[in-house]
Amino acid sequence: MTIPAPVGSRPAATSFRILALPGDGIGREVIPAALDVLRATGLPFEFVTAEAGWECFQRHGASLPDETLAAARAVDAVLFGAVSSPSHPVAGYRSPIVGLRRALDLYANIRPVRTNDERRTTNDSESDPFVLRPSSLVDLVVVRENTEGLYVGKETSDGETAIAQRVITRKASERIARVAFELARQRGLRAEGRGLSEAATPVLSPQSSVLSPRVTIVHKANVMRETCGLFRAAALAVAEGYPDVAVDEQLVDSAALQLVQRPERFDVLVTTNMFGDILSDVASYWCGGLGMATSANIGDAHALFEPVHGSAPDIAGQGVANPLAAIGCTAMLLEYAAERRTPGDEYLAWAARIRSAINATLAGDIRTPDLGGTARTEDVTNAVIAALGARG
Ligand code: NAI
Ligand code: MG
Repeated sequence: MTIPAPVGSRPAATSFRILALPGDGIGREVIPAALDVLRATGLPFEFVTAEAGWECFQRHGASLPDETLAAARAVDAVLFGAVSSPSHPVAGYRSPIVGLRRALDLYANIRPVRTNDERRTTNDSESDPFVLRPSSLVDLVVVRENTEGLYVGKETSDGETAIAQRVITRKASERIARVAFELARQRGLRAEGRGLSEAATPVLSPQSSVLSPRVTIVHKANVMRETCGLFRAAALAVAEGYPDVAVDEQLVDSAALQLVQRPERFDVLVTTNMFGDILSDVASYWCGGLGMATSANIGDAHALFEPVHGSAPDIAGQGVANPLAAIGCTAMLLEYAAERRTPGDEYLAWAARIRSAINATLAGDIRTPDLGGTARTEDVTNAVIAALGARG
């Protein structure tokens, strides 16, 4: 998706500054892999690294130190790994990713899911309903509101009754809906132009196979009449400005089932914070699971790219984490950079090359254990870099 550069700034041939925040656990294994891939492009990047997360909290008493936040504000984009967050309250601890999203006003969480293994699909339209296989490639994007909803952290408890506030505003609902409709429009245009200018249109998601763009508004307005009702009304109002994009709506529980049974029917889904968090994990099954799922957190002035997965303490330190989600994030980052640096086409071309290199690596059966293989993190990273060279 095209995110306009800040008013007054011009794309320039200066270096693109990236803050790496590896965080905890496998964040420290997959972010170095992603940085190696970015370095292999030879594009003019400047890298800075800073601390955030649970270990940082234990060392410095802050999960998101002021210096880290200042560094995040100063750079062009942040590449975030994952952090460990305890599930019980710890005095003074707040999840740094939630803090970063809020501090940088990263209101749009964009989570593309695309099948990159044709063996997961079937052309048999009468396929066995007990076998989970879409009839064609899955190519969808979950657009999740990132700043409010049930994740505002307004919770109280007297020990017997715990209450969470769910905050929905018209402003935030409208702006996330606009992101979704713009994205659907661009994906549609790009699919139409396929073969003519395949790498020419910047989108923060892999190339769409959808010819008729559609946005599905996901809510639960039949029960949460005020909060989901406002979100739904705001999104439908935005839809009127996009007559070229089809719109439909679905209740969140039914959308969850459809993401499992008929994922190929979706193009862009737009929804509130927690629904989007859950649905995007469900959808990530179709791109190979958490080891493959990428995301972008975008605001008007800042951007942060992160794999969807967490710190995976069960495999951390073993050198077997799948780096492809983090590496996939670098392709999204390059598409974002393409709007802000010249020559933009060069950044776009590298984004496409990284995606091809990921597919070539998977096709070569160089896979980590989560994808049924025996390769290690560094084997996969080296294979991607080698495939980049072969194409570059
Ligand atoms: P998780 O994503 O860390 O792990 C879930 C399962 O998927 C584990 O079995 C793990 O081994 C596997 N997995 C995840 N990423 C993988 C990869 N790249 N390669 C291979 N296998 C992978 O989620 P979980 O276990 O619920 O949470 C663990 C910790 O991560 C918690 O402290 C949680 O708070 C934190 N977390 C942080 C997130 C973030 O920083 N954005 C997001 C989700 C969880
Ligand atoms: Mg999640």
